[in-house]
Amino acid sequence: MPDKPLTSGVAEWTRAVELDRLQPSRPIAVKLGGKHIALFLHQGEILACNNRCPHEGYPLVEGVLDADCVLTCNWHNWKFDLKTGATIYGGDNLRIYPVKAEDGAVWLDTHDPPAAERIERALQHLDQAMAEYDTARIARELARLGTAGATPELALVRAIQGTHARLRDGMTHAYAAADAWLRLRDTLAGETPRLACATEALVYIAFDTLREKTYPFAAERAPWNAEDFAAAIESQDEDRAAALLNGALAQGLHFADLEPALAEAALAHYNDFGHTLIYLMHVRRLIERLGTELEKPLLLAWLRSLIFATREDLLPDFRRYAEAFAAWPASARPGNANPGMLPGPDAFEGQSVRDVLNATLAGAGNAPLDLYFALMEASARHLLRFDERHALRTDNSVANNVGWLDFSHALTFGHALRQQCARQPHLWPQGLLQLALFVGRNSGYLDPNLAAQTAIREWAVPDETAFHERAIATIVDHGVGLPIFPAHWLKTWGAVRDEVAAGLPAGARTAMLAAVNRLLAVRFKQRHALRTAHQALGFVGKED
Ligand code: FES
Repeated sequence: MPDKPLTSGVAEWTRAVELDRLQPSRPIAVKLGGKHIALFLHQGEILACNNRCPHEGYPLVEGVLDADCVLTCNWHNWKFDLKTGATIYGGDNLRIYPVKAEDGAVWLDTHDPPAAERIERALQHLDQAMAEYDTARIARELARLGTAGATPELALVRAIQGTHARLRDGMTHAYAAADAWLRLRDTLAGETPRLACATEALVYIAFDTLREKTYPFAAERAPWNAEDFAAAIESQDEDRAAALLNGALAQGLHFADLEPALAEAALAHYNDFGHTLIYLMHVRRLIERLGTELEKPLLLAWLRSLIFATREDLLPDFRRYAEAFAAWPASARPGNANPGMLPGPDAFEGQSVRDVLNATLAGAGNAPLDLYFALMEASARHLLRFDERHALRTDNSVANNVGWLDFSHALTFGHALRQQCARQPHLWPQGLLQLALFVGRNSGYLDPNLAAQTAIREWAVPDETAFHERAIATIVDHGVGLPIFPAHWLKTWGAVRDEVAAGLPAGARTAMLAAVNRLLAVRFKQRHALRTAHQALGFVGKED
């Protein structure tokens, strides 16, 4: 589709070339005020366009103009309607310039349109690029947006508004990672890595919504009531829960007003491997960054992910969770601390779900943060001791599909938990017990011949400043195809960096830095063709 001509503003007619120099078979390249422009004479009509192909910048003056006024760039065969600039085959449209012949010369209007017009055009083009998962074009359009004076936040707002109902299962890591990428971008000075971060934020959203239809949310409104909301979540009634959220926002409530109920809902079960609590933290940050106009799309997408979340505490392996939570002593609730023996990470490392839950319960009288540090140190030791053969093997059962992200999630969940409990301390018991489930579930996949202290020494981070610089370089130039993997590098590294900044005991600090150091050295096996085939044959072979 052609762009609307960029005609607003005051024309700047510039003498480009003598009229008689232009021949049908001899296009001319000129440089006017820093702009590279190609001039063509086509069936008596003078036409001008940017000489730099919008794909990769090769000179269009070297292209081929056919009888239908279609200009082909010979480098990659993109084709443009030279009268309108519309791309017939390819991606980005071509800028064309108004032309007039006067005083024996060709004159071009080279004025640049107002910034607002260029921003709107870049945003529209970004929509197209995302719809086609054209990552290079996403980067170009974001760069154009920046040149016109806009920030990637503008693009992200539009992307979330345009995609939140196209996430079939609700919020994914894409929105969460968008927050993390922009937070990383905030810390960088170089134009290139900053654009890379912004691009990654949008690329992941495009990946997760590629060719997805819209799955509309209920538009009804119901007066906000936290108990009704919890009941709607418990019965997996998305429409009812959405109506309550709609009603809450319509009556002027904001995220901060709803957050207690949302966090309660996120921790009501050992949900979906901790995703819902992790996502809630990113929703809050995105709203803080992007504004309240995103409350509704973000909360609805988050809600859907919660509705569809697997309640893993209902699985046999984790059923003891409810019992442990019920047994959490009331006297140990925050504010009534009754210090007893504080279990250290040794009490959790390598232990079964049952034993980790028991050890956590035994430490319930301590300050929750102390128990948290011990569980986080155990989680970090587990990542350090993970036997990678489990991630690589091809002959395991579905139940043992375990990979690096199973271990990194313990750290990112723990980080989100600490953030949330700083706001709502009464959530510590269920949060700590769920963190205990992470620790216990991963115990079965450790290298029995690798001691934690050996692994910590191997992956120790002696110079944190240099480590963080290296980590950022690795993350920004990740070279990994599936966006979920660099997103987890980024989120785990960011969680550990923030944990260190918030304060950790020496043991937890050392182990967590070493753990993320190891994670950043992993070469992810992104797909499992053999394992998938093995499991399919095993499963189908037993079908009745
Ligand atoms: S540079 Fe023109 S099509 Fe690639």
